[in-house]
Amino acid sequence: MVEAGLKVRVDAAGNLIGRLDGADPNLGPIAIGSHSDTVQGGGRFDGIAGVIAGIAVARVLGQNGGLEHPLEVIDFLAEEPSDFGLSCIGSRGMAGLLDEGMLAMASPDGGLLRDALRQVGGDPEALSSAVRQDLAAFIEMHIEQGPVLEARGLDIGVVSSIVGIRRIEIVFEGVAAHAGTAPMDLRQDAAFAGALALVAVRELAEALASEGPEYFVATVGILEVKPGGSNVVPNLCRLVIDARSSDRTMTDRFEAGINEASHDAAKRARVNRSAFKTLSDGFPASCSEGIREAIRAAAQTLGLSAIDIASGAGHDAAFIAQVCPAGMIFIPCLRGMSHTPDEWSTREQLAAGAAVMLQAVLSIDSTGAYFSSSPGFTQL
Ligand code: HGY
Ligand code: MN
Ligand code: MN
Repeated sequence: MVEAGLKVRVDAAGNLIGRLDGADPNLGPIAIGSHSDTVQGGGRFDGIAGVIAGIAVARVLGQNGGLEHPLEVIDFLAEEPSDFGLSCIGSRGMAGLLDEGMLAMASPDGGLLRDALRQVGGDPEALSSAVRQDLAAFIEMHIEQGPVLEARGLDIGVVSSIVGIRRIEIVFEGVAAHAGTAPMDLRQDAAFAGALALVAVRELAEALASEGPEYFVATVGILEVKPGGSNVVPNLCRLVIDARSSDRTMTDRFEAGINEASHDAAKRARVNRSAFKTLSDGFPASCSEGIREAIRAAAQTLGLSAIDIASGAGHDAAFIAQVCPAGMIFIPCLRGMSHTPDEWSTREQLAAGAAVMLQAVLSIDSTGAYFSSSPGFTQL
């Protein structure tokens, strides 16, 4: 960012921000960027591509006289679910949604999020200074993380909406026993309850997804069984569910169904359901019409094919959409793969996304295309 001529700072929510001043200091900044963290066993493009594209756009603008609006390139802190169980930490901070309960979340080694925030240059006591009411617009470039653009031979996805993600933790506690001598009818097997709950998650998610037209998916991505010996009946099973929808009422129905199913599972396995807790809960967000139009027109100017597309992946833009009009540019990725080392986009695809970003920023800067509609946060 410094090499690109930007003034760099870390805000109280731990976001890394590079700024290029504008000709008119009374205008709110146009923000671009994404996140540079990834998941365990992740790839090199999810998030990172958007930060690099933002820096490239800022460098070109800085070399050509800049904009009317200030420009800020943002590398959001911890977009992925962190060891504290919370995702989008930096963008929640910018939206004023990083609360005391979240700051008190602990990682497995007992460290608190509020202390970790300090370690990366944030300031948990001054979070109000990170809340942004001044942004004119926000655009994030990101790999699609799905197969649509590549399968249809398209260059650009103009994102229409971003799912809301709710993460729920369930813990079952039974009694450890010898796998050889404990009679089946006397066991209190926590993993049996966990397995019943996992099947319920899959079956309820399939039923909700097939209802349509709203988007719904759910996954059990974390399944811990303790003590973890092959010859020990497990006394602990912990699941973390990732449920996503474009319609919050569907997520509420899902949560109620899994609450009941996991309660029944505990009874059937004769174990205690010691936790049923929402770890994080993000609202679905709609992207600004004005920014979508600017992205569409930019693709057209550049002779690139583009379609409207909903995002099943969560993004920082969903939180920033709560404080300013926001939009996203998707580029294709190899066979839609993501959250894997095989994640891949070509130089041409990355360059096309960055060129659309540059063009869209120029048109928003000159026409104020962002003015349409209120921020894209869907209050239900
Ligand atoms: O999980 C997601 O949807 C995003 O890639 N963090
Ligand atoms: Mn990701
Ligand atoms: Mn991402």
